[in-house]
Amino acid sequence: MGVFRVKSVEQSIEDTEAPEHRLRKDLSALDLTVFGIGVIIGTGIFVLTGRVARDLAGPSVALSFVGAGIVCALAALCYAEFASTVPVAGSAYTFAFATLGEFPAWIIGWDLTLELMLAAAVVAVGWSGYLTSLLESAGMSLPTAIAGEGAAFNLPAALIVLVLTGILVAGVKLSSRFNLVVVAIKVTVVLLVIVAGLFFVKGANYTPFIPPAKQTPAVEGLAAPLIQVVFGISPVAFGVMGIFSAAAIVFFAYIGFDVVATAAEETRNPQRDLPIGIIGSLVICTVLYVAVSLVVVGMEPYSRLSEAAPLADAFKAVGQTWAATLISIGALAGLTTVVMILMLGQSRVTFAMSRDNLLPGWFAKVHPKFGTPYRITILMGCVVALLAGLVPLSAIAELVNIGTLFAFVIVSIAVVILRRTRPDLPRSFRTPLVPFVPILSVLACLYLMLNLPVETWIRFVVWMILGVVVYAVYGYRHSRVAGREVGAGKTGR
Ligand code: ALA
Repeated sequence: MGVFRVKSVEQSIEDTEAPEHRLRKDLSALDLTVFGIGVIIGTGIFVLTGRVARDLAGPSVALSFVGAGIVCALAALCYAEFASTVPVAGSAYTFAFATLGEFPAWIIGWDLTLELMLAAAVVAVGWSGYLTSLLESAGMSLPTAIAGEGAAFNLPAALIVLVLTGILVAGVKLSSRFNLVVVAIKVTVVLLVIVAGLFFVKGANYTPFIPPAKQTPAVEGLAAPLIQVVFGISPVAFGVMGIFSAAAIVFFAYIGFDVVATAAEETRNPQRDLPIGIIGSLVICTVLYVAVSLVVVGMEPYSRLSEAAPLADAFKAVGQTWAATLISIGALAGLTTVVMILMLGQSRVTFAMSRDNLLPGWFAKVHPKFGTPYRITILMGCVVALLAGLVPLSAIAELVNIGTLFAFVIVSIAVVILRRTRPDLPRSFRTPLVPFVPILSVLACLYLMLNLPVETWIRFVVWMILGVVVYAVYGYRHSRVAGREVGAGKTGR
């Protein structure tokens, strides 16, 4: 059936060789690890930790980070095998095309495009928030109409997106150098939180470590986790179930290691470097997250943590304003790289889809001098800037999570399928214990998805239906792989 036509791995690799579609191969394992950390540490740890500890998990938010980290590690093992076997821009989209067929690939690409775009916009809004708070500490304040949560148009958020778009157009190597410096600042600040914070930890703040389950407005109505509604439980926050609801949200903090896979085509030695980049960045971030969350909930009673800037405010609460200022600077630097790499990943996924003519092929043109997909980058940069200007931060992180988890499910299934259909392909990285690890990864991702609120599921389903419509109206008719099938039929091959 047409919609399940597969694009072979060889075909995917061959398409990357066409001169007008060729990206420059410039990245090393270290670049990729830095890329990973650059996009992983961001709003998740700097912003969401506070809200989640206060509303859903209490001090046990540290366990939520462990849980979400384990789910990501399982998915990362699958991603790494795929990325090292199919080193082509487009990540899960390309992987799905090689195994499950065109329609599932489209669905994943659609899913990833919008998730990454939305995530970049949300993080840009967080960036603007930290900028505002930093300027305020320095005695300058921006007019509320153009900055802050209630702004009519969030100007700093839109501007940072446009500046980063320019950097991305100018070339990956430049952006990755820029990233290296920023990542160094960010990691130093995270370490500062851990080390300096330790001096202010009070044992009493850890009891009870897992607060008793209770009904709260945070889990009322459509905000209730789907799993609790499905099993007919009256929705509760805290307790053991709260740890899982919190894990489904702090999962956002890990998003990004998968984006490393989207840079496959620009990697010098993808077979070796991709697995190192993906797994390395994930491990480093997990350790940092657990440590940061333990320190922060130890510094202040969880019910008093702030929503907008919990790490900085925890230091303010113990009278260490200097540390709070440094943390705000680090957060600002950290969020910058997150926005940039999310947009990088996003443009590469859409690039791969346009190259296959599932979206207009005009987008896939590479810049003759810079070697970057500039058309798609500029267009998407403008869309993200607009979203960042207009969309408030609130609950969109959950929507990003569900889409990413869905992509992880597909990738995990696809690893098993590709082992069956193409056992001959060289795999420099092999997922251990197949099919056990991929199956566990699928189950773990689905379980986290079920822990997300009902309203997130509704938005996700609407989003996907829209994708099916676009495919039926455009992609199905214009597909490049379909064109090849027709061509092959005519020549009697
Ligand atoms: N993991 C990224 C963040 O926390 C998306 O902001």
